[in-house]
Parts: sequence; C-alpha cells; structure tokens
Amino acid sequence: MGNSAFSDRDGFIWLDGEIVPWRDAKIHVLTHGLHYASSVFEGERIYSGNVFKEKEHTARLIRSAELIDMEMPLSEQEITAARHEVLEANKLTDGYIRPVAWRGSEQMGISAQATKTHVAIACWPWGSYFSEEKREKGISMQTTKWHTPAPDTATTQSKAAGLYVTHTMAKHAAEKNGHDDALMLDYRGLVAEATGANIFVIKDGGIKTPVPDCFLNGLTRQTLIQLAKDLGLPIEETQIKPEELYAADEVFLTGTAAEVTAVGKIDDAQYTVGPVTRQLRSAYEDLVRTKAKAA
Ligand SMILES: Cc1ncc(COP(=O)(O)O)c(C=O)c1O
Repeated sequence: MGNSAFSDRDGFIWLDGEIVPWRDAKIHVLTHGLHYASSVFEGERIYSGNVFKEKEHTARLIRSAELIDMEMPLSEQEITAARHEVLEANKLTDGYIRPVAWRGSEQMGISAQATKTHVAIACWPWGSYFSEEKREKGISMQTTKWHTPAPDTATTQSKAAGLYVTHTMAKHAAEKNGHDDALMLDYRGLVAEATGANIFVIKDGGIKTPVPDCFLNGLTRQTLIQLAKDLGLPIEETQIKPEELYAADEVFLTGTAAEVTAVGKIDDAQYTVGPVTRQLRSAYEDLVRTKAKAA
C-alpha cells in the first residue's frame, strides 16, 4: 500500500456485510452521518496477529452508538467476525483497524428515525503516530482555546465523530505554530486530554492523570493505570490544574494510535523523557507484544 489518498488504495474493506474492493467502499453524499455527524468509530491496533483489547474496543463501539441514540445492527460476535474477515482479506497482522458506524441516506433532516445504521471496517499498516525522533525527544504541545465540553453538553464518553470537530481545529492551530499536538483543558479550565490521546503527569515520582468525566476514558489510559499499579508506582486519578502540569517533571500521552508518547514541551514548560515515562512505555510495549505472543 503506497501513500496515495485513503480512497485510492489496494486492499479490501468490510462494508455492510460484504468484503468489497477498497476503492468501491463508497457512500452517497446525502448520508445523514455526513451532514449531522451521526457517526461513531473505533481505533484499534493489531500486533503480530493479536488485536489489542479487542473485546473492549468492540464493546466501546456498541456503547458509543448507544450513547448517540443510534441503533447498532451488529452484535459483539458479528463485529468481531467482520474484523477478522477484513484482516484476513488484507493479510494484515500488524497495523491499525478502523471500524465506523453511521446513519445512512434513508432520511434527510435532523430527525433520523427512518435511517439505517451502516457499518464498515477498514485496516491498514500503520507504524508510530509520531516519528521515532519525536518519540525520543518528546513531542511539543500548545494549549488550545477549545475546551472539552461538560458531560451535559456533549456525549463525551462516546467516540462520536462530531466531538472531533474541535479536536481537528485544535491540532491544526498547534501544527501551524510548529507543534505536534494540542492540549485541551476542560469546561472548568482543568487539564483534560490531547486531541487523540489521554495525558499523564509525573512530579517527584508520583503519577497523576485527570478523571475522565468529560473526555474519553481511553483503553490505553486504563491499561497504563493498571500497569503502574502492577509495578508498584504511585498513581492517582485526580483533577489537575494547568499550573500543576507546568510544574511537572515528566508528561506523557496514551492512546491506541499514540501508544505511550513522551511530551517534551507544553507552552513554556519543558519536560525530560524521564525514568517513569521510560519504564511505563517499555512495560506497555512488552504487554502488547506478550499478549500477541500468547494469542
Ligand atoms: C480524544 C481521544 N482521547 C483519548 C483517546 C485514547 O483512547 P484509547 O486509548 O482507547 O485509544 C483517543 C483515541 O482513541 C481519542 O481520540
């Protein structure tokens, strides 16, 4: 697979029950999901033939649909079977998997009662989200003016497409200023997350991560919390003020795509890629590989 547009690649995509040639996986322009963001998705990684946290990703896709009041036509078993069908069709054992579910073109307008939910699963080879060099030095971030919404303002626990409008604007602004990603504060002004990853803050050996009450409680985040506990490292889920983040020794991000990514800089604060980040990053890398070996 080359670097061509995502619509113009070789391979196969699972679409509404069938494996179709990659370039034929199309939808109509009058699709509800396109106009009103009635769409949810997942981001998963497969390592040496093992989909990491497969059950959890499948459950989250179903839950995401439920949270935006959209009927999911497939059971957990059917989604799992479809995922393996498309992985097999593409002979992919290491890479990224993107399931997506959206409301179709059966009805146009705010009301979507007559729409059907469509499902597709694509997969492709994908290495590090950030370059190896960035991973070593730590990425550079800038705080965005966009805040994550209150839980009664948006469906913050759903991996819903609509939530990413602000995330893309935040990431673009950061990139325009030479940074790699943006830090989002929440509606109260507390530290929330990056545009596609959760955040961990280390000071004097103690690890803190914000309570996910208005942003996605990432599966990688949950894995890292457990890994830290297993390693006997002090870890706390708590509210974090920007001042505390700026005074930290180490900062890292977690996400399926980002894995464990060290942060070198946020606004005027500098961080070292220190011992806690290194220890947890290597524990995570071992875990995804060990799980792959055991499967
Ligand atoms: C906004 C946002 N926060 C957090 C995460 C991390 O979630 P996970 O670790 O489940 O991939 C992601 C990635 O899916 C994301 O898009």
